[in-house]
Amino acid sequence: MAEHLSQSELDYPFKLMEYLNGFRISKAIFSACELGVFDLLLESQKPLTAGEVAQKLGTSGDGIERLLDLLVAIEILEVELMQGTAYYNSTDVANLYLAKSSPKSLHSLIIYHSQTTYPLWNNLVDAVREGKNQNEKTFGLPSEEIFSAIYRSEEEMLKFMGLMNSTWVIDGHDIATAFDLSCFKSIIDLGGCSGALAREIAKEYPSSTVMVLDLPEVIQSAQRHFAQQNDTICFQEGNFFDGEIPSADLYILARIIHDWKDDKNVKLLKKIHSACNKGGGVLIAEALLFENRRGPTMVQTFSLNMLVQTEGKEHPPSYYTHLLTEAGFRDVQVYRTGKSYDAILALK
Ligand SMILES: C[S@@+](CC[C@H](N)C(=O)[O-])C[C@H]1O[C@@H](n2cnc3c(N)ncnc32)[C@H](O)[C@@H]1O
Repeated sequence: MAEHLSQSELDYPFKLMEYLNGFRISKAIFSACELGVFDLLLESQKPLTAGEVAQKLGTSGDGIERLLDLLVAIEILEVELMQGTAYYNSTDVANLYLAKSSPKSLHSLIIYHSQTTYPLWNNLVDAVREGKNQNEKTFGLPSEEIFSAIYRSEEEMLKFMGLMNSTWVIDGHDIATAFDLSCFKSIIDLGGCSGALAREIAKEYPSSTVMVLDLPEVIQSAQRHFAQQNDTICFQEGNFFDGEIPSADLYILARIIHDWKDDKNVKLLKKIHSACNKGGGVLIAEALLFENRRGPTMVQTFSLNMLVQTEGKEHPPSYYTHLLTEAGFRDVQVYRTGKSYDAILALK
């Protein structure tokens, strides 16, 4: 019995207790974001008492004090006691990643996780039992139509686009520079959503043209809400399964393969292969599992997330190599960034 546990683990399961409490930590950060705690502390430019925060955010004094204290304990805020009164202040992490106005803000990602991912994970038991997504149980939407569920309202579509954007603000440069893409002069980001990754690619390769192709309603929303003055990319409405894929030197598939079942992925890659110009290629950006099934932990959580929300899953590099080879691509190269998302390049 328990022969593999160290003496300290026999005394108290520290790691396990931390994991069991993990959801409370996430939800506390989510709640502080939704309440505007980090924006307020950034704007105030000086430490505030719990009473001042409560008054400005319209919360209870007791509730906000407990929340602020937890955020201090996990080193997301700082506190100083002066003559018995606690003054709360931001940290660099909070200012850079949690305040809405920061260019590196993860605010949209947090709002999506809090309001959409969290309710879906509430049905994880059923998702595992049934082996299918929980869009129907959570939101009353058909489980086969995954993007109808994700885009169930304009508000939800914008939240999802914000989530997609957040990732590339911090991981985009690593994907854009994983390989030298300068030989590809025309680039299409298939399912490129709001264009966040496409802009990173355009920034890195200014002599290439970069276009985002996505579903009509997504492109219209991207143009309304995410287009920039003197934008470096252009947009095209389309459907990569049912419509035509325009010819190009390079296709980007970022977080597309993980949404779908194998047969759809093979069909899509074969279609891309035949549209691709000679000497062209495909760049896949996905979170890669280890071949030995032992992680990374975050990617395993992403894979469960695909279970509760889509029809796909996360994979190790060998899956992509197999898929790309079956579709006719060659010279598959894999680059692990060490962050959340990795890159795979294959040539026609
Ligand atoms: C998981 S998101 C990834 C978005 C983006 N590539 C990124 O990584 O931020 C999947 C994208 O595929 C788009 N999409 C889904 N089905 C599509 C289809 N049949 N044709 C074109 N785009 C599609 C969605 O609208 C969405 O933007």
